[in-house]
Amino acid sequence: MRVLVVGAGGREHAIALNCRTSGHEVLMVPDVTGIDGRLSEVDLVIPGPEAALVAGIASTCAAAGVPCFGPTAELARLESSKAHARDVTTRLGIPGPRWSRFDAGQVDEALDWWRSLGSPVVVKQDGLAAGKGVVVPTDDTSTAEAITALAARGAFLLEERMSGPECSLLALCDGTTAIALPLAQDHKRIGEGDRGPNTGGMGAYAPAPIDIDVDHLVATFITPVLDDLRAAGTPYIGVLYAGLMITASGPRLVEYNCRFGDPEAQAVIPMLDVDLADAALAATEGALATHPIATGVPLRAASSCTVVAAAPGYPGTPAVGAAVLSTTFTSTTVAGSSIDDELALLFPAGIDAEGRVSGGRVLAVTGLGDDLGSARDRAYSALDGIAFEGMQVRRDIGWRAPGATMRSYAESGVDIDEGTRAVDGMRAAVERTLGSDVLRGVGSFGGVISLARLAGLDEPVLVASTDGVGTKVELAARLGRVRGVGADIVNHCIDDVLVQSARPLMFLDYIAASKLDAGLVAEVVSGMAEACEAAGCALLGGETAEMPGVYADGAFDVAGTLIGYAERSALLPTDDVAPGDVLIALASSGPHTNGYSLLRRLFQWFPMDAVPLGLDRPLGEALLEPHRSYLDVIAPLLDDADGPRIKALAHITGGGLPENLPRVLPDGVDAEVELGSWPVPPLFALVRDLLPGMNAHELHRTLNMGVGMVIVCAEADADAMRSAIGEDTWVIGRLVSGRAGHREVRLR
Ligand code: GLY
Repeated sequence: MRVLVVGAGGREHAIALNCRTSGHEVLMVPDVTGIDGRLSEVDLVIPGPEAALVAGIASTCAAAGVPCFGPTAELARLESSKAHARDVTTRLGIPGPRWSRFDAGQVDEALDWWRSLGSPVVVKQDGLAAGKGVVVPTDDTSTAEAITALAARGAFLLEERMSGPECSLLALCDGTTAIALPLAQDHKRIGEGDRGPNTGGMGAYAPAPIDIDVDHLVATFITPVLDDLRAAGTPYIGVLYAGLMITASGPRLVEYNCRFGDPEAQAVIPMLDVDLADAALAATEGALATHPIATGVPLRAASSCTVVAAAPGYPGTPAVGAAVLSTTFTSTTVAGSSIDDELALLFPAGIDAEGRVSGGRVLAVTGLGDDLGSARDRAYSALDGIAFEGMQVRRDIGWRAPGATMRSYAESGVDIDEGTRAVDGMRAAVERTLGSDVLRGVGSFGGVISLARLAGLDEPVLVASTDGVGTKVELAARLGRVRGVGADIVNHCIDDVLVQSARPLMFLDYIAASKLDAGLVAEVVSGMAEACEAAGCALLGGETAEMPGVYADGAFDVAGTLIGYAERSALLPTDDVAPGDVLIALASSGPHTNGYSLLRRLFQWFPMDAVPLGLDRPLGEALLEPHRSYLDVIAPLLDDADGPRIKALAHITGGGLPENLPRVLPDGVDAEVELGSWPVPPLFALVRDLLPGMNAHELHRTLNMGVGMVIVCAEADADAMRSAIGEDTWVIGRLVSGRAGHREVRLR
């Protein structure tokens, strides 16, 4: 077909693009001027703007025997006269606001009506106003001002102000049958957050998230009008557009338009997998009921988002003439001008042939996608490459969509009930850790513990440590073995305070996850509780946070704080740590909680359930072996006043031997560590083999290499110390004099 599209805005370019890509030839004229001469050349006319309808293009086409997909000027009064539309809907019982019409100058009558209504109103000009003849006053003063202003211009309406989400229902009509297109939502105000004056529309998206069956909306707002007009012998052909507000009492009509919406058309038409000209022609023949779209409108994209770029000054007088520059589209004057596999499209509107701003709404960019988020991203990233001086763009198109369908906090990814289930699952294990000194535990705002057990100390001190399990949690989550990370964090903290001679008093945990899983949380906390119970430490409280979008899907994080107590005079290190002292190593149970970023990467292609050469159990199990607590080994030594004396303890955590030993060394004292003086466990030996390029210092800084705790004692005490410890130990080095101002670890 040769299709004549009347109009030159974004909407008309969207219609034309569909026609062209459906294989039709398209002629475009800006308005109806001189149109008679063109009609003999074309098979179908699709009018875009209301002005063409009001100018009687349907009758002109009928006289020339050319099908026109638009209503007659008389029928278009549904749009051109707000009062006529309200008369029709009132007569047909179509839901809408209470309203009244006033003639020019009837200010007092209007003020009286408004006061008797007793609720806020919308003031509307009773004629075409390109979307700008509506004032929504915010208070009594601006209501009176709006009434005075519109009464000075001509006839006007007052309508009861409704509230609720709005949507645009566009239906293709053939006089009898109406086919609804995806519901769209316009953004009429100039400013972000729907502030400022009304415009012709600054953006739209589809489908609008309205939880009402579209067939029901068609039956309520479109079909009664079609039936009424057909019965009157004047069938309605074209687009009937019902602007709706979804109020608390149900959907209500805001207004009718007799054409595609702008910018709704730029959002909706590109979504369609429909030959629009073919459907429009069928409508002019009264044949939509048998057209393929009668059984469902096929879509080529599930979602669409259109963003309008407007000229400076709009919606007042726009400043024109600026060059429109684009790095994303090949042309700014050609509709489509596609990029990104046609998932981002440009629709020129107020651009002249030289690519300069010539009108208020300059162009629209539409992004398509599987969901609104991706459609929106495409539209905005395409728009990022477009610029002209003073360009006005709303960055919030679609901003009401995320909240439109949310009914509960859980829909944002946070399930409070799951948190409660997690607490229920862990409660028993946690309560086992609570001695009689705990006055408030699980479920209270804060844990409360009596300090009675410190009463026997001469000068009690509290020793606090906070830490996290680190990226070991990723491996644990991946392997579904999370109980151990509970022990990891508790024991890590126990060892941290132990090296200062402190015994654990209480522990508080923190678990954060992208998605809370009560079973997982209960498992982790039960692991913590077991470790606490074994150490005589109260698991006094904790926090479980569900943080979608902060943690990666499936990820969780574990951290905790332990408070211990000690006698001040017993604090370690002692002040006589000196050259000649020896370093006695206690074995680690595995990598503890350090080096997992390296380990996960190192073993990324090795199955975690396979047993590598040298190990006697699956790799995943070896890697997840919980961090051991040294409390049961060290505490008896600390308590035995007659036994060998511990001068210092170093917990070998992040930073390994090279960075943890210096923490307990006096100034000018170095540690010499003899590599090979302790048996490197098979897992660490394997890691060393797999890292031929990593030197010893770097390796021992990253991993504990089999040593989890180091005791510093006088050489004379070393043998007694080792025999007092009921497990294998190794003398791995000694302290030597070093340079003043330094504390170094030398691996030899
Ligand atoms: N976007 C509103 C209209 O076209 O009237």
